[in-house]
Amino acid sequence: MPIISLKNVSHTYSQGTPLSVSAIENINLDIESGELVGIIGHTGSGKSTLVQHLNGLLKPTQGTVEIDGEDIWLNKKKIRSVRFKVGLCFQYPEYQLFEETVFKDISFGPKNMGLSKEEIKNSVLRAANYVGLKEELLNKSPFDLSGGEKRRVAIAGVMAMNPKILILDEPTAGLDPKGRKEILDMIVDYRKKTGSTVLLVSHSMEDVAGISSKILVMNKSKVAMYDTVDNVFSRAEELENMGLNVPQITRIFMKLKAKGVSVDSNVYTVNDGCKRLVSLMKGGNV
Ligand SMILES: Nc1ncnc2c1ncn2[C@@H]1O[C@H](COP(=O)(O)OP(=O)(O)O)[C@@H](O)[C@H]1O
Ligand SMILES: [Mg+2]
Repeated sequence: MPIISLKNVSHTYSQGTPLSVSAIENINLDIESGELVGIIGHTGSGKSTLVQHLNGLLKPTQGTVEIDGEDIWLNKKKIRSVRFKVGLCFQYPEYQLFEETVFKDISFGPKNMGLSKEEIKNSVLRAANYVGLKEELLNKSPFDLSGGEKRRVAIAGVMAMNPKILILDEPTAGLDPKGRKEILDMIVDYRKKTGSTVLLVSHSMEDVAGISSKILVMNKSKVAMYDTVDNVFSRAEELENMGLNVPQITRIFMKLKAKGVSVDSNVYTVNDGCKRLVSLMKGGNV
C-alpha cells in the first residue's frame, strides 16, 4: 500500500471569485514508503500547493488525499495527528523562528504533541544531531545564528516531531553551494537513519538528481512525470520544453550523442560524466 495516495486532487484558490486560481489539477499519485522524492517544476507549477495538501494545511477543492490508506479529511478531528505524522518545512522556514532559545524553538512541535519533558529533550537533542547543530547552540537565541544555522534549526524543529513523512519545500533556497550541499547531505543521512519517506521540493535539477529515488515533475498545475531519475532525464527534450534545466553535464552528453558520439544521455553528475569520458577516451564503452 502506498504511504501517500492522491486521487483526482485539485485545488483552486479563491474558488468562485474573479480571483480564482487553479493551482493543481486532477492529481493522481501514489508514493511508496521509504522513497526520497525530488519534486521539481517551474515557479507557479503547483509544487508548494501540492505538498501543503499532504499534511492537511490545504484541503482539496476536489478529490481525496490518503496517508497510510486513510482519507485525511474523513474525520476532521484527526487532522492534528496528520500534521505530526507528516512534517512539513516551508520555504524560508527561518522566518518562523520566534522563541528565546534554539532549544525552545526545536521543542515547539514535540511539546504540542504532548510529550513528557524527558521525551521532548530527547527529541530535541536527536533532531539537533541530525542537522549537525552543536549542543552549545541550543541555549542561544535563534536570532544570533547565521543564515545556514537558522535554516537547520527550523528543519530540526520538524524532524523533532519524528514524522513518518518529512517534506521540505525548497530547503536549499538562498544558500551558497556549500550550504546547499550540507543541507542535501543531511537530508540523505536523515532518511538513511530513520527510514522515513522524504519529499524534497526544489527548482534545481542538480540538487535532486543525485539524491532522489524518484523525481516528480510538476508542469502547469499537473504531474507531468513521476519516475526514476534515469527515466525522467531520458525525456530531456520534454523537460526542456517545460523550461526545466537538465543538469549541464547531462546536456553535454546529449549534445555528444546528437553529434554521433556513442554515449548515453542519462548522465547527471559530473563525477559519473568524468568516468564515462575517461572510459570513452580509452576506447571503452560508455
Ligand atoms: N495563497 C494563494 N492564493 C492565491 N493563489 C496562490 C496562492 N498560493 C499560490 N497561488 C498560485 O497558485 C499557483 C501555484 O503556486 P505554487 O503552488 O506556489 O507553485 P510553486 O510552489 O511551484 O511555485 C500559482 O499560480 C500561484 O500564483
Ligand atoms: Mg513553491
